Amino acid sequence: AKAQDLAQEKVSAAKNVAFIFDIDGVLVHGDRVIPEGAKTLEILNGQNELGLKIPHIFLTNGSGKPEAERCAQLSKILNSPISTKQFIQSHTPMSALAEYYSTVLVVGGEGYRCREVAEKYGFKDVVVPNDIVAWDESIAPYRTFGTWERASARPRDFSKHNIDAILVFSDSRDYATDAQIIMDLLQSENGRLGTKAKDPVSQRIPIYFSHGDLLCPTEHKYPRMSQGTFRLALEAMYKAITGVELERTIYGKPEKATYTYADECLTSWMEEIHSEKVLPQNVYMIGDNPQSDIIGGNLYGWNTCLVKTGVHQGDENDKENPASMGVFENVLHAIVTVLRKEL
Ligand code: G3P
Ligand code: MG
Repeated sequence: AKAQDLAQEKVSAAKNVAFIFDIDGVLVHGDRVIPEGAKTLEILNGQNELGLKIPHIFLTNGSGKPEAERCAQLSKILNSPISTKQFIQSHTPMSALAEYYSTVLVVGGEGYRCREVAEKYGFKDVVVPNDIVAWDESIAPYRTFGTWERASARPRDFSKHNIDAILVFSDSRDYATDAQIIMDLLQSENGRLGTKAKDPVSQRIPIYFSHGDLLCPTEHKYPRMSQGTFRLALEAMYKAITGVELERTIYGKPEKATYTYADECLTSWMEEIHSEKVLPQNVYMIGDNPQSDIIGGNLYGWNTCLVKTGVHQGDENDKENPASMGVFENVLHAIVTVLRKEL
């Protein structure tokens, strides 16, 4: 009976535990699995001494593909089912903006993938820079526009339509063209190309960025510039040309709005896993980047674990943004330590 009581206690304790995983540098490196990541998901999906599913969601600053496609790809790499209901990428919370803006310029990503993402989010009229170049090639003097681009773009007379907001969803593949079009729009009268605003502030359309990461580790020896550097360049150009600061909104980690969104997502996912409403009490964020995952988790009041398989190197905790649970060799070490402590 005692053993049964103990098991029951562990089951109750397990109900309040939940994990939030960063993806790149924790579970995978690009398309390559981190083996301890796959093992971790196996354990949390029920291969543990209690045979219990332990709720977990994924919070990544990744971008550029529809959620369903990214989940299918990750499920395959990690050999565990991953639902879109437990998955948040940098632009996921931006879907809420579809209620406020009808015609939007979506910037970044491969080909027309981000147009597809925005349409899936419910934006009614999604314009991409290629549509504008196809309308007036002189807008981007250094752009060589190929046959494929010309055939696949959706040009219209943009001097007759307003763009309501600019949404940078992913990394720019062509800084010169994208920055030129964004600057033109920011200085226009309410997003009408071919016009110049009399007042740079009141007539300016809003601009949103899906995350603020300056650098991104890739196969190159040194990390490569990411969306954050593109934003810094735009801010500097805008200030130098107009004399006013560019107001902008940034999503993604470590922004609070993204953590609030993740908290809501986790609460519903826990309800689905436990078939009853259980508030996430002992939440553990596991990440490799002190300046994004860890600072955001700490500020939000979650426990944080820093792993050594990505951006952070070495056994020392980060000085400025130390993880509350310390540094771990990998994600498996982190979750095993947490489960030992909690159950
Ligand atoms: O910065 C973009 C992306 O590669 C970061 O991914 O999963 O570490 O937030 P993640
Ligand atoms: Mg990471």
